[in-house]
This record gives sequence, structure tokens and C-alpha cells, in this order.
Amino acid sequence: MIVAGSASQTLAVELTDELDRELATVSSDRFPDGELLAAVPDFAGEQAIIVASTVSSDAHVELLLLQDAVREAGAEEVVTVIPYMGYGRQDAAFEEGQPISARAIARAISTGTDRVITVNPHEEAVCDFFEPTAESVDAAGRLADPLPADLVDPVFLSPDAGAIGLAETVRDAYGRGETDYFEKVRHSGTDVEITPSDVSVAERDVVVVDDIVATGSTVSEAVAVLGERSVEDVYVSCVHPLLVRDAYTDLSRAGVEAIYGTDTLERGSSAVSVAPAVAEHLGG
Ligand code: R5P
Repeated sequence: MIVAGSASQTLAVELTDELDRELATVSSDRFPDGELLAAVPDFAGEQAIIVASTVSSDAHVELLLLQDAVREAGAEEVVTVIPYMGYGRQDAAFEEGQPISARAIARAISTGTDRVITVNPHEEAVCDFFEPTAESVDAAGRLADPLPADLVDPVFLSPDAGAIGLAETVRDAYGRGETDYFEKVRHSGTDVEITPSDVSVAERDVVVVDDIVATGSTVSEAVAVLGERSVEDVYVSCVHPLLVRDAYTDLSRAGVEAIYGTDTLERGSSAVSVAPAVAEHLGG
């Protein structure tokens, strides 16, 4: 049976279709002091596939509770699918005294599962923080699906060197176009400096491709640079459309035609489902 975390309802339902499995009824509650409770039906001898993006602290705790609940209910095997792994970007101690948050989170999740699957982690290395090592699914190829078929001489541009592989994957899936990347220096959570490359974008459509769009600062800077260079239309493709604060409206105001992401996060921009890629990985 498939068990849906609160933040992954849509994807869990898609996966039940892809894998031809039942969806477990999860009873969620909250105690007067704010603590969470999550109960599941009988799992005697069954495999439990928990699908839960850990997009908030509550979602993290809920996942740990669901893992424990399915074990208590007799599950023979627990598979944890983390479509979007919260704290995944905190994969090092960036200053003295800081934790390696991704490792701390991974260790906690590892205790309640036999297997972990995640989708396009920010760095593959975070998979090694899990015990056993998490398996990563690449769902980026599907990001080309919602793009208009008639893009004009398109350039698939990543805002930093780290995402050039994603830009290439989306370009390959789209079937034509050039790829390039900008150089990015992050000064703070919202202050990002982009150094343009030499790619010519005048009178061409550009698809900015990144793994995560969070505050939108990175993409905004890229769009500003493109605007100075007589670009035609700008689209944004990302695996994880986190879109915190006013990111969606800010990017629309900046002139972005459309933002296409996946359902690792449930947002208005979640145009593509990662369910087929996850199901294929699970052997469905
Ligand atoms: C960082 O390296 C990631 O690939 C994204 O570029 C970053 O997380 C986006 O964050 P924001 O939208 O807040 O600039």
C-alpha cells in the first residue's frame, strides 16, 4: 500500500495508478499542544511505500511518525520516497559551529526505513548520508513536456555551472536548442550575483533551468541579465518549484512567461508528474 504524507497527496495518488497499488487511509490529528499524530491501517506482511516531501519541520516529523506507524502495523518492508528533500541544500557546515543539516535529517529518516528514494537531490552526495545509501531518480527529462513546441531558436540556460547537466537533459528531451550557463555568486539567502556568459540571446527564446526555485532570487537575476540582451520570451523549468514568499508573482512581474515544475512539491506550477519515473525505479 502507498502512504501519503500531507505534502505529497497528489503524487501519492499518481503513484497508486502507476504501480497499481492501494492508497492507505491515514488518520492525522494534532494534540492540543501542537504535536502531531498519524495512524495507518493494518499492514501485516505488506510492503509500505511512504511518499512524503519533507518541505517543513512538521512534514519531517510526520514522516518519522508514519514510518513508525507502518512498522507497528506489521509492514514487512518500508520504502520511503522523499520527492523533495528538505534541508538537502545544507550539505556541509558552511561556517564554523554549523551542523551538516542534511546529514542529521538523513540519519533520522534512515532509522525507520529499509530503502530511501529521492528525486533530483541538490547534490548527489546527500544520498550517502542515508543508511543504506539513498537512490536518486532523475525526473528532469519530463520537464520539456509542457514547453511550447515552437520555441524560437531556444537557449537552455542554467543560472550556475552546477545545473548545466539539468539544462542539457531538458534540451535533449526537447529535441533542439543550445545550452549554456551563467556564473553565480550567492552573497546571502536572497542576494545573488549573476555573471553572464557570452551566449547570444537576442531574439531567441530562453528556458532557464534550475533544480530548485525557492525565493526566485537566482532566476530573477538571470532574467534581469537576459532582459538587457533583447531576449524574446523567457520560461523557467525546475524540478522542485518551492516558490517561497512572493517568488511566483516576483518572477511573473520580472517578465517570465511561465514556470514549469514537477509535483515533488504541490504548487500551481507543478505541471509535470515524477510518478512515472519513480514508479519505473520501483519496478512498477
Ligand atoms: C542552488 O544552488 C540551487 O541550485 C538553486 O539555484 C537555489 O536553491 C535557488 O534558490 P533561490 O530561488 O532562493 O535563489
